[in-house]
Amino acid sequence: MSRKLFIAGNWKMNTTLQSGLDLANGLKETIGSIDEIELAFFPPAVYLKSICDAVAGSNIGVGAQNMYFEDSGAFTGEISGAMVKDTGCKYVLLGHSERRHVFGETDEMINRKVLKALSDGLHVVLAVGELLEEREAGKTMEVNERQIRIGLEGVDAAAMSNVTIAYEPVWAIGTGKTASPEQAQETHAKIRQLLEKLYNADVAAATRIQYGGSMKPSNAAELLGQPDVDGGLIGGASLKVEDFTALVKAGL
Ligand code: PGA
Repeated sequence: MSRKLFIAGNWKMNTTLQSGLDLANGLKETIGSIDEIELAFFPPAVYLKSICDAVAGSNIGVGAQNMYFEDSGAFTGEISGAMVKDTGCKYVLLGHSERRHVFGETDEMINRKVLKALSDGLHVVLAVGELLEEREAGKTMEVNERQIRIGLEGVDAAAMSNVTIAYEPVWAIGTGKTASPEQAQETHAKIRQLLEKLYNADVAAATRIQYGGSMKPSNAAELLGQPDVDGGLIGGASLKVEDFTALVKAGL
């Protein structure tokens, strides 16, 4: 089965309203009509509506970097899946390593968010990945398996068509240290085997697994050329029109 590549820019806590609009408008020009690759931006929550409006009519989708698992109420500082949808978003990123390691999100919390986002009709990008010490201790797959198994608890095979996995080794995020194409391929293949074990061969074959962690124009073609690497989740290189354009074009 051939999987459509899915490349997304995670803007993190960057841009102003104006620089975000400039970035979105610039990329709409350069890559907005590409349909061989699924494309998305994850801007800061306060700019979601503006960025959705800016890319309307192009092939670029927009998503939130996080959401909460309740519908409404006394949850100061949080946003719901319905609010995310209301801005025009199709996607939500959940379980990013910064949410896990800076903000203390647990696998169980992330699982509740995944279930809520799917029931709210959002496509979930579930990010997983091991820390450097976990890789050095030989625990790479143990950690990724735990994050995926718990993160997807209660998600049935049919709902998996609305889930993308982003494998992001934490030691490669924002560090300039990319996983080698072989290291990425090895873990991606094991994640796919895990999906077969948790679901079935069809789900394993159809689910996109993005790579994230210092992916840039110079290494994108090689990473995206691996058989089990189905796209990328891009931080730093998603913040400049030239870089993200070149990176996406490397996947064509
Ligand atoms: P990076 O970030 O591309 O800057 O390493 C990736 C991510 O955190 O999603």
